[in-house]
Amino acid sequence: MIDPIQREEAIHGARWETFHGGYFSDPAVAAPLIAKILEYAGASRADAIVDLGGGTGYLLSRLRANGLGTGVSLIDLDDSERQLEAAGKSGLTCVRAAVDQFSRHNLSPGDRRFLFMMRSVLHYFGENGLSSTLQHLRAQARPGEFFIHQTASFQNGPDADFMNALYQLMQTRKWYPTVDATKAALIRAGWRVLDVLPGPALPLLSSDLGARYGLDQGTLQEISRTMFREHPVKAGVFEKQGDDFCAFLHYWIYVCTPA
Ligand SMILES: C[S@@+](CC[C@H](N)C(=O)[O-])C[C@H]1O[C@@H](n2cnc3c(N)ncnc32)[C@H](O)[C@@H]1O
Repeated sequence: MIDPIQREEAIHGARWETFHGGYFSDPAVAAPLIAKILEYAGASRADAIVDLGGGTGYLLSRLRANGLGTGVSLIDLDDSERQLEAAGKSGLTCVRAAVDQFSRHNLSPGDRRFLFMMRSVLHYFGENGLSSTLQHLRAQARPGEFFIHQTASFQNGPDADFMNALYQLMQTRKWYPTVDATKAALIRAGWRVLDVLPGPALPLLSSDLGARYGLDQGTLQEISRTMFREHPVKAGVFEKQGDDFCAFLHYWIYVCTPA
């Protein structure tokens, strides 16, 4: 299977922020996560915020617009050259590295206090990579620091199963857990989960999914037929839009600290 970043490279860089109806550059969508980070950045006296898989740096720019950035380094860690090229234009510090391999010692000189944040990245590691990635992140964090992430996850098992079936048909290794399974994996990896709150859902149009994953029209129609045949239409999860479908990726925000 192609490397997940390489596969969706066509929508990285300048195109990213308008993709999926502009979800990833919408201040109202970002607001609940931004509010939590501002709350904990102050309380933890963090002197560097690291956005893991930070993409074009939109969230860090929102933090800066909200007054964070004086005396606090804003670091975008991502493994996509195109995403970081766009982030660099916003004057953010960029680090090209893999979320599941980086070392805190390479992020910033000196003994800094970090706050790690992340939005919409954990699913890239697949079902088998979730626990090891959370363990790696835990090994990079020190007591008293925070890891605040908005992760695609579902309140009930059948909705997660539905989304996983769709992503399997698109031949990606992306995988979506339930909220309970995410909490359990965090705890097993050595995190204490302080708070879990809902984030705005992302409507995924089948035409956008086709463009993102390089699916030709025939493949997309076949996937669409399979999805409608095997899954009931359910408001807010799976809806019909003309010949297309719209699947809703649900997000939850997890506030974590080393246990
Ligand atoms: C769905 S986008 C989210 C971007 C950003 N967090 C946001 O909310 O706008 C996922 C991002 O994670 C990055 N990414 C995926 N897997 C990664 C990995 N293993 N290491 C570093 N970055 C990764 C991708 O390059 C992409 O920029």
